[in-house]
Amino acid sequence: MGSRLIGYGSYLPEKIMTNHDFERIMDTTDEWIVQRTGMHERHFAADGEEVVDMAAVAARRALDNAGIGIDDIDMVICATTSPELDFPSVGVQVLGRLGASKNQPAFDVRGACTGYIYALHCARGFFAAGMHRRIMLIGAEKMTRFIDFNDRSTAVLFGDGAGAMIFEHSSSGYSGIIDTVVMADGREFDMLHGTPDHKIAMNGPETYKKAVTLMPDAAQYIMEHAGITADNVDWIVPHQANLRIIHSGAGRLGFPLEKILVTVDKHANTSGASGVLALSYALDNGIIKKGQLILYPAFGSGLTWGAALIRM
Ligand code: UT7
Repeated sequence: MGSRLIGYGSYLPEKIMTNHDFERIMDTTDEWIVQRTGMHERHFAADGEEVVDMAAVAARRALDNAGIGIDDIDMVICATTSPELDFPSVGVQVLGRLGASKNQPAFDVRGACTGYIYALHCARGFFAAGMHRRIMLIGAEKMTRFIDFNDRSTAVLFGDGAGAMIFEHSSSGYSGIIDTVVMADGREFDMLHGTPDHKIAMNGPETYKKAVTLMPDAAQYIMEHAGITADNVDWIVPHQANLRIIHSGAGRLGFPLEKILVTVDKHANTSGASGVLALSYALDNGIIKKGQLILYPAFGSGLTWGAALIRM
């Protein structure tokens, strides 16, 4: 038993923070940021605009796109690392915002930048077990909660936003969420983590080195498992952390530039929202088309990493 994608939606805050805006408030340059990361701008949530606000808009848009209501959804899973409240989950809050009345289950997964892959992995398992008919997967982050404007090495890297996809049970194993793999190595905790005062602690160069090997490894594993190569995949949509990481990993796997989806220039790193925002952007703009095969590897704090194979 498998699934198929029946709707998607996204939300990006109105405020755009450019590299030049950073030049005005810290010791950095547009040239450094573009050369080292490929980022030009990112969206910043307004004061008081929280993960749940962004998640609820993305969820509503996904429901409208699918032409269904919230009570047609049987489960909500939200990938987020940056909620305003410790409890309840953002998933449950979204149910409330959208007026759900069916008592359907909802929960969050906290997998940092790999969070959406973890959510896809859970959904694939539920579909395989025949447990739920329609599952909404949200990725929503307010990474600006963690930005330390005194630390130029991390402040410029992150942005806010939310995306949602709705998958429906299908008897075909070749559509929707076809395969997933997720991994974690807690011994590498020190490389990238949140601090007790809600800041980001990251060893950038070490994280970079891990990202350029672990993401392609997970992607390669998924392709071998499915018996396919880069030639069979329409698009690789890597976690949008850094353009150099994206090109290096996708290149090693044999993907030509024209099959690599890049949104890091516009959204920067939105952690658990990164992949679903990239996919929504590409669908909205006719870049990725219905029926195409997507390989989506991700990597992040934990360390965590993984990949998903999705037929749109
Ligand atoms: O999504 C989760 C996973 N996260 C990642 O994948 C991030 C992985 N790491 C990276 O993307 C890169 O390591 C960074 C973009 C964070 C940094 O790039 P880098 O090429 O590794 O630079 P670096 O940390 O080695 O720093 C090089 C220089 C340093 O100056 P000195 O010591 O050579 O004088 C930094 O102080 O760049 C300096 N620097 C900056 N300069 C201008 C660091 N941040 C900035 C900045 N503007 N914003």
